[in-house]
Amino acid sequence: MSGDSALDARVLVVMGVSGSGKSTVAAMVAEQLGWDFAEGDAMHPQANVDKMHAGTPLTDEDRWPWLDVVAGWIRGHLDAGTHGVVTCSALKRSYRDVLRAPGVVFVHVAGDGALIEQRMSQRSGHFMPTSLLQSQLATLEPPRDDEAHLTIAADRTPEEESAEVVERLGLGVGR
Ligand SMILES: Nc1ncnc2c1ncn2[C@@H]1O[C@H](COP(=O)(O)OP(=O)(O)O)[C@@H](O)[C@H]1O
Ligand SMILES: [Mg+2]
Repeated sequence: MSGDSALDARVLVVMGVSGSGKSTVAAMVAEQLGWDFAEGDAMHPQANVDKMHAGTPLTDEDRWPWLDVVAGWIRGHLDAGTHGVVTCSALKRSYRDVLRAPGVVFVHVAGDGALIEQRMSQRSGHFMPTSLLQSQLATLEPPRDDEAHLTIAADRTPEEESAEVVERLGLGVGR
């Protein structure tokens, strides 16, 4: 029994820089637990989608309405008593403040630039400019001790990483 199970997770927000493996790990955890799964990236208002298609970086002003949608998804699950897993880069503490609520646990998939760059370069269709990765890493404010969170090292297989999430949250078989 790890102390982490005291987190009483009802909704997980799988966070981290682009390419860290959020979508992969989150989908696997949701599958393993039988919890709802959603991609935060799919919740952007149309105005943001248009901007991103045009290659224009989003500002924080653009992000608040999006984070409100993600927070709505989270609140809907908490209110209904339904468990869920949602991906959201949530790089800044101020972004997480919008998503935070009792029962919400942030799962930070943490990897360094070299690991992520190497991984992305091995995969066609996943091209990510080095500048984007660098700016994401520069923006990242890792969760602090006063935030309900787990940090998962991104340098293992998705199976190992998702198993660690389930175990550390005390959600595995025979808990
Ligand atoms: N633990 C892992 N080991 C190796 N490759 C991984 C791992 N996690 C994810 N990947 C691969 O890295 C790429 C980025 O993963 P993804 O889950 O899309 O990251 P994110 O959602 O954080 O942008 C994908 O091609 C994915 O298949
Ligand atoms: Mg993703």
